[in-house]
Amino acid sequence: MDISIFGLGYVGAVSLACLARDGHHVVGVDIDRAKLDLIAAGRTPLSRRHGQADAGRRRSGRAEVTTDIRDAIMRSELSLICVGTPSAPNGSQDQSAMLRLAEDVGSSLKYKSAPHTIVFRSTLVPGTVEDVLLPLLEQGSGKRAGSISCLLPAGVPARRLVDPRLRQAAVHDRRRARSSGGDKLRALFGHLPCEFRVTSIRAAEMVKYCCNNFHALKITFANETARICEAMDVDPFEVMDLVCQDRQLNISPAYLKPGFAFGGSCLPKDLRATMHFAKARDVELPMHGALLPSNRAHIDLAIAKVMATASGESA
Ligand SMILES: NC(=O)c1ccc[n+]([C@@H]2O[C@H](COP(=O)([O-])OP(=O)(O)OC[C@H]3O[C@@H](n4cnc5c(N)ncnc54)[C@H](O)[C@@H]3O)[C@@H](O)[C@H]2O)c1
Repeated sequence: MDISIFGLGYVGAVSLACLARDGHHVVGVDIDRAKLDLIAAGRTPLSRRHGQADAGRRRSGRAEVTTDIRDAIMRSELSLICVGTPSAPNGSQDQSAMLRLAEDVGSSLKYKSAPHTIVFRSTLVPGTVEDVLLPLLEQGSGKRAGSISCLLPAGVPARRLVDPRLRQAAVHDRRRARSSGGDKLRALFGHLPCEFRVTSIRAAEMVKYCCNNFHALKITFANETARICEAMDVDPFEVMDLVCQDRQLNISPAYLKPGFAFGGSCLPKDLRATMHFAKARDVELPMHGALLPSNRAHIDLAIAKVMATASGESA
């Protein structure tokens, strides 16, 4: 396949190396001249740990670099968008690079008659592709989505192009893209030893956040557990090792289906006791401390929904 990659940071450069390795012809585009020069010279813009494949691919002649967006679009059938979406000072997502690029890609597509598939690898706030980027692409190109396919393979960190666990293809129009853009993603990633799932674009955007939040939650849980263990003169490594041995309830899909609040005879009582003995030893456990209030908010929401149903029925 002829592929263009926009943004040659960690994600884009690893994608460029892996796709060239898999036999595709890849054109990389970045606004950072230094990165382009490194890749053009057969060197990597990445740290040693990730970069060995890069230089070899460039020398193999299957990868090239340019700053010319229109040329890259014209010479490819599929584009991977990998530009950065960092935090703005107020915590929101800074999408300025993505918005500028969507405008440029849109106006380049105006000159192309063949269909083009766009794959967003960047992390994007749910709704961004459908509500913001697709309209920008349509406006710039004068084409309707359909001749442009937008996909989003969330849950595929760059390292998983090497060691994949889940590939998730999200398509803007499920019927069409299953037979066009969806198939292209299968052709790109189909050989990887992991499951391929088709989802909505919004779900794919959210999964990326959900995975990262879950990872942050796990790390915080282990660290808070270690703090209280130390205060109780217990070995935290032994405790967490034993916790992880339980593959039925602990390290498993158990309790990960959204539903009603937790309750019963053990969970609220034992959480309250944990918070009490932590406080008695001056150990701060903000994450554990947030669990009961969060559970309460969930119960309140359920009550409000039931009340709304009841008042709707009486009206
Ligand atoms: N780093 C990860 O492990 C990881 C994993 C999955 C997803 N992501 C997401 O992928 C995206 C990229 O991450 P990264 O770590 O590679 O970012 P990065 O900041 O390392 O790289 C972004 C690159 O985009 C380039 N760029 C900016 N504007 C451009 C434009 N208009 N045209 C072409 N290139 C442009 C920059 O010069 C830079 O080289 C982010 O949204 C990130 O959240 C990152």
